[in-house]
Amino acid sequence: MTELHQNKTVLITGASAGIGRAFADVWAEAGFNLVLTARREARLLEIANELKAHDGIEVYTLPMDLTDPEAAPKIHQYCLDKEIHIDALVNNAGYGPRGKFEEMNWDLHQDFLQVMVSVVVQLTHLFLPGMIQNNYGRIINLASLAPLIPSPVMAGLYSPVKIFQIKFSESIHGQYQDRGIYCSAVCPGLTRSEFHEAAGMHEVKNAPKWMWMEARTVAEQGFEAVMKGKGFIINGSINKFFAVLSKVIPKRVTRSIAMYLSKRSY
Ligand SMILES: NC(=O)c1ccc[n+]([C@@H]2O[C@H](COP(=O)([O-])OP(=O)(O)OC[C@H]3O[C@@H](n4cnc5c(N)ncnc54)[C@H](OP(=O)(O)O)[C@@H]3O)[C@@H](O)[C@H]2O)c1
Repeated sequence: MTELHQNKTVLITGASAGIGRAFADVWAEAGFNLVLTARREARLLEIANELKAHDGIEVYTLPMDLTDPEAAPKIHQYCLDKEIHIDALVNNAGYGPRGKFEEMNWDLHQDFLQVMVSVVVQLTHLFLPGMIQNNYGRIINLASLAPLIPSPVMAGLYSPVKIFQIKFSESIHGQYQDRGIYCSAVCPGLTRSEFHEAAGMHEVKNAPKWMWMEARTVAEQGFEAVMKGKGFIINGSINKFFAVLSKVIPKRVTRSIAMYLSKRSY
C-alpha cells in the first residue's frame, strides 16, 4: 500500500460485478477506503468482507438503485452522515438497453438516461466541491469503444450516452486539472463481465477470443490513466487499432467489418 493513498476514499458505482468489482480490488490494493454501491446488497457485503482483509482500509456498502432520481443526493447524504470525504469517484454502473429503440417504452429510456447520464453528472457535481477544496480529485467515467467505431450493435441510446460520458470527462478534466483534479474517460471494448448476459446478448460469447479483455486489466489501466492525469484512454491495443482503423478507412468498409463481426457475435 502506498502512503500517498492512505486515508483517501473512492466511491465506486456498479461495484457488485464486472469492471466495477475489479475497480474495487484495484483501488483497495492502492490503499483507498471504499464506498461501494449497486442494487445487490448481498454481493456488496460479500465483496466488502473480502476487501477488508487489505490492511487498514474501511469499506462501506450502500445498496442503491440508480434509476431512483434521488439516488445521487442519497449517496451524497450518506457520505455526509458518516463524515466520509470522497477523493475519487468511479462512475462505472451501466447496462445495455434490452430491445429496439422504438419498441421500448419511455420509462425504460428515462431510467437508462438517469443511470448513464444524470447520475454521472450529479455525483460529479455533488462531490467536486470537496475535491476542489482539497486540491485533489480523481474521477473515472466508464465510457466505451462502441461509439468510436461504426457499429450496428448497441444502437439506440447506448452509443450516444457513451459519447456524452467521453465529452463530459473532457470538459471536467479541462476545467479542473490545474486544481489537482483529473477526470478520465475509460473506453473498453468487449470485456468479460455480466454485461452481455444482462443485455440479452447471449451469442456474444462466440466473438473471437482476441477481441476480449479481462475486467481486471480494464480496471488497472483505468486506475493508472486517472492517476497519471490522462483524460481519455482506449483499453488494449486491439481496441486502439479498431479506433484508428475506423478513422482512416471508408465508413462503408468498417461498417461491413462490424456487420460481419456482429453476425458472428450477436
Ligand atoms: N463489458 C463490456 O464489454 C463493456 C464494454 C464497454 C463499456 N462497458 C461499460 O462498463 C461499465 C460496467 O459494465 P460491466 O461490463 O462491468 O457490466 P456488469 O458486469 O453487468 O456490471 C454492471 C454493474 O452496474 C450495476 N448496475 C446496473 N444497473 C444499475 C442500477 N439501476 N442501479 C445501480 N447499479 C446498477 C450492477 O449492479 P447491480 O445489478 O447489483 O445493481 C453492476 O454492478 C458499464 O458502464 C458499461 O457500459 C462494458
